[in-house]
Amino acid sequence: MNKLVIGCVIMAVFVACKEKKVEVSKQQVEKSRYKEEYRPQFHFSPQEKWMNDPNGLVYNKGVYHLFYQYYPEDIVWGPMHWGRAVSKDLVHWEHKSIALFPDEHGLIFSGSAVVDKKNTSGFAENGEAPLVAIFTYHSMEGETTGRKDFQTQGIAYSLDNGDTWTKYAGNPVIPNEGIKDFRDPKVFWHEPSENWILTLVAGDHAKFYTSKNLKDWTHLSDFGKSQGAHGGVWECPDLFPLQLEGSDEEKWVLIISVNPGAPNGGSGTQYFVGNFDGKTFTSDQKEPKWLDYGTDNYAGVTYNNVPGNERIFIGWMSNWDYAKVTPTTTWRSAMTVPRQLSLHKVEDDYYLANYPVDEMDTLTSSTLIDQVEVAAGATDTLQVEGLNQSEIQLKTTAKNFQLLFKNELDEVLVLDIDSKNQTLTVDRTLSGKVDFQEDFGARKHVAPLKNLKEGSHQFKILMDWSSMELFIDQGLVSMTEQVFPSSPYTTLVIDNKDGKEPIIVQSIKNIKSIW
Ligand code: FRU
Repeated sequence: MNKLVIGCVIMAVFVACKEKKVEVSKQQVEKSRYKEEYRPQFHFSPQEKWMNDPNGLVYNKGVYHLFYQYYPEDIVWGPMHWGRAVSKDLVHWEHKSIALFPDEHGLIFSGSAVVDKKNTSGFAENGEAPLVAIFTYHSMEGETTGRKDFQTQGIAYSLDNGDTWTKYAGNPVIPNEGIKDFRDPKVFWHEPSENWILTLVAGDHAKFYTSKNLKDWTHLSDFGKSQGAHGGVWECPDLFPLQLEGSDEEKWVLIISVNPGAPNGGSGTQYFVGNFDGKTFTSDQKEPKWLDYGTDNYAGVTYNNVPGNERIFIGWMSNWDYAKVTPTTTWRSAMTVPRQLSLHKVEDDYYLANYPVDEMDTLTSSTLIDQVEVAAGATDTLQVEGLNQSEIQLKTTAKNFQLLFKNELDEVLVLDIDSKNQTLTVDRTLSGKVDFQEDFGARKHVAPLKNLKEGSHQFKILMDWSSMELFIDQGLVSMTEQVFPSSPYTTLVIDNKDGKEPIIVQSIKNIKSIW
């Protein structure tokens, strides 16, 4: 062999080895993924990198689409794309490639998606109804040069159920007349008027628009300047009808996220119950009502086009106060479990409840603890292997008690029910790692219980490796909280020493991993 040939052979072997090495380490990464410390096992989180709001929630052809605010280069917020995943059952998710990339109009901020069944947009081809995404363009250039009109609304369509997307050549479809915060369009088909209705937020209020074709939009009305919470900027609106439980009465619900200004600090989601006549939303409600009193349920919106008119909600399980510094390494943030919304009346007032969808029950497998009764005046300590990936159900008329989740390091997450103040308090101040940000473990989080009826109450708690979701009475009260214990919780203390009635722990079940 001459020198050149030998050189080529060595080179080829070197390249092959290098490729093999890359291949092997890629496989190792894949294998170790979803086993990292704090990685949620039954919540959606991206394979890697940064995620915030859920976007484009729409059901089409047997598939629940989940797009999300995504920055594929880092685990902190950066130039936004729409990441994408799909599910057939709302429980197991398949990751797909990025759906929308930034372009000459800007980054791709939050928005929604619809199935244009009647081809009002004219985007259909060969009888295939388009999926149309409606989102905010955020121009970095506009923002840095001090302009106010840097957020506009654009659309894109897909003719293969979300696999590939084409941006509309006539973008932006809603220009900006000089409003600094002007974003997060949520669109739905309003059957009575046969129009598309779009809600977006403009700093301190919501704006409603109408269109016949998803391209030409006319402003209809505004809502909210002097109603609800205004501790920060309004974000991620959603407007939809909901039937009052146990009646024929229908009301309209407007969801508005606000950052900051939530009852327990940072970002949170308020709602208004009222009426919508196809043009104007009205509500007598002056004070805000909160969808979730925990600190980690933000920017949530509901699915379009779900069969049977169910209202299914997903929120981003974090808070802008500390989202960028939570102690995870390869990815950041997860979604809440999908939740079914329902409307209830308590003493002449309307309340929105949110509760894990029934499909979540398919994940509960072995029973870790069978029925246990904790008598009035008693305290029970249960050792539960697998507590940190479990569903706990209990029932009680007791009005003063505490649940404590503990680990071997004596870190503790405390849930406290207090009849005197009619409150539920979540105390994560000593729950594990809290010092990555000053507010995370600074104070207890309180929810009022005044919207619960008298009598026995049903509790459901979902524990994942870095979160706790608590629902009382089908979600009339809910609290969603991130926690980062230094070692998993293994002990549940049920402290009923001040109680006058027993607490029935109906079951503690393991929840299977979805990954
Ligand atoms: C809400 C939000 C939206 C915006 C997006 C940007 O969390 O601030 O208003 O569209 O995130 O990522």
